[in-house]
Amino acid sequence: MTMLDGKVAIVTGGGSGIGQATAILLARHGAAVVIADIDEGNACRAAATIEGAGGQALALRVDMRDEEQVAAMVADTMARFGGIDLLDNTVSYNAPEQTGSDGEIHEMDIAIWNRALEINLRGPMLAAKYCIPEMLSRGGGAIVNISSTAGILSLGTVPAYAASKAAVHSLSQSIATAYGKRGIRCNTVAPGFIDTPTTRKMGDQFFQMTLDNNVLPYLGQPDDIAQAALFLLSDAARYVTGQLLAVDGGQTIHLPVVADMWRMTAGQPLVEIA
Ligand SMILES: NC(=O)c1ccc[n+]([C@@H]2O[C@H](COP(=O)([O-])OP(=O)(O)OC[C@H]3O[C@@H](n4cnc5c(N)ncnc54)[C@H](O)[C@@H]3O)[C@@H](O)[C@H]2O)c1
Repeated sequence: MTMLDGKVAIVTGGGSGIGQATAILLARHGAAVVIADIDEGNACRAAATIEGAGGQALALRVDMRDEEQVAAMVADTMARFGGIDLLDNTVSYNAPEQTGSDGEIHEMDIAIWNRALEINLRGPMLAAKYCIPEMLSRGGGAIVNISSTAGILSLGTVPAYAASKAAVHSLSQSIATAYGKRGIRCNTVAPGFIDTPTTRKMGDQFFQMTLDNNVLPYLGQPDDIAQAALFLLSDAARYVTGQLLAVDGGQTIHLPVVADMWRMTAGQPLVEIA
């Protein structure tokens, strides 16, 4: 007996990186998992990995910007697995691939702003809109929305992405507040910089910056975020709702000068206490 036996989960953006790791982990813990992603090939590969390990999975090509496709995702899930208990919204568009930046606000292409909000905020909202009635009909459920530490503290370079990620936690709080008495919990996980195919494209300097600023001496892996989502989606977190959990190696717990202090002092305290 594993902790998600008999549960049905949808992972949006489940085709790669953190979403893929989450889909595989939820399946390993007994859930039947729907992998919804705009990249059908990746969704199918993740589903095949789950089925190859003896789990149950369904790959769906879904553009989370399109309300009809989101409604169809829920209908297809119901047809295949007969219910929905868990929703993990990992879906995201990151900053434009070539620059790693949204551009500055005074010259931003409004299409970048709209795309970030459409995929990162409206997508999770639409998934919740169509999943919640099915959860209510089963007596409850649990939702995790994936935000970012860039939605907690400013990076400066990704204003559209950051705004969408800050807002997705507000969405979690609204869902948690409105549906708690009806058995639905909703929480947010904010990853720090995680080693995924998407971040690999950004180059080694981002990994070095992360290691310099993390309290912990290693990089976060997709499974670190998946484990947090698993906890929050499981009954082990039955008294946890509306919360924001940063899973970031300690990057957001200290003042920005700490990394410089470490460099200056080679890890020794700046001032020896007499
Ligand atoms: N990797 C990191 O360092 C990091 C840091 C902070 C937050 N996050 C967040 O974690 C999540 C996963 O990050 P990742 O690095 O694994 O990213 P990723 O790019 O590997 O995953 C995002 C997935 O969403 C899918 N997707 C994009 N647009 C879609 C759409 N319109 N409809 C359906 N699917 C769509 C992509 O195909 C992809 O599979 C994202 O929400 C991201 O913002 C990641």
